[in-house]
Amino acid sequence: MRIDIISVLPELLVSPLDHSIVKRARDKGLLEIHLHDLKDYGKGKHRQVDDYSYGGGAGMVLMVEPIFNCIEKLKMEREYDEVIFTAPDGHVFSQGMANRLSLCKNLIILCGHYKGVDERVREHLITMEISIGDYVLSGGELAAAVITDAVGRLIPGVLNDESSALTDSFQDNLVAPPVFTRPSEFNGWEVPPVLMSGHEKRIEDWRFEKSLERTRIRRPDLME
Ligand code: ADE
Repeated sequence: MRIDIISVLPELLVSPLDHSIVKRARDKGLLEIHLHDLKDYGKGKHRQVDDYSYGGGAGMVLMVEPIFNCIEKLKMEREYDEVIFTAPDGHVFSQGMANRLSLCKNLIILCGHYKGVDERVREHLITMEISIGDYVLSGGELAAAVITDAVGRLIPGVLNDESSALTDSFQDNLVAPPVFTRPSEFNGWEVPPVLMSGHEKRIEDWRFEKSLERTRIRRPDLME
């Protein structure tokens, strides 16, 4: 998969996408991430990408032309499955969306800007709008990193068996069961004996029970 991320602050995305599983996916050649600085498409010698809002009001708005030029250049080079825009009023991101996006070949993510983007971008250039939750970030970069991380780890071949996505929270609308490692007793705090019984079926049943119980208590909304 290839993800092209367009931002006025691409530096913000370098480190989050250069560690752990996303880095492994990139090193294996299963995920290509290309960061584009919108200012490279800005107007004039100041590389201007934003301007005052028509009708007044505080805050600058990202202009349509630099975004159009950047997206058009990318679209000339390959076909994109989706052109995603990150915004707090988008569809709330979920594991289901991550699963679907992980099957795509080429994605563009345009990072939103704190005071907004000319509405014509959303009307004419964007195919999908994603929010990562009901709170406002100062820009869409961290949202783009979240989406790229959640999607990238699901690309076939990225995870090995022991970190398989199938046991993740939310993959079956249940949160994950608790896990333990050595020592079996610390400070008088014990590991549930069933996990050390070596009895695979009983362990699997216990984990499923715990998932159900935790989901009921912590996330009853998932069970509706
Ligand atoms: N930009 C600002 N807030 C955001 C959010 N919650 N999700 C996605 N993009 C955003």
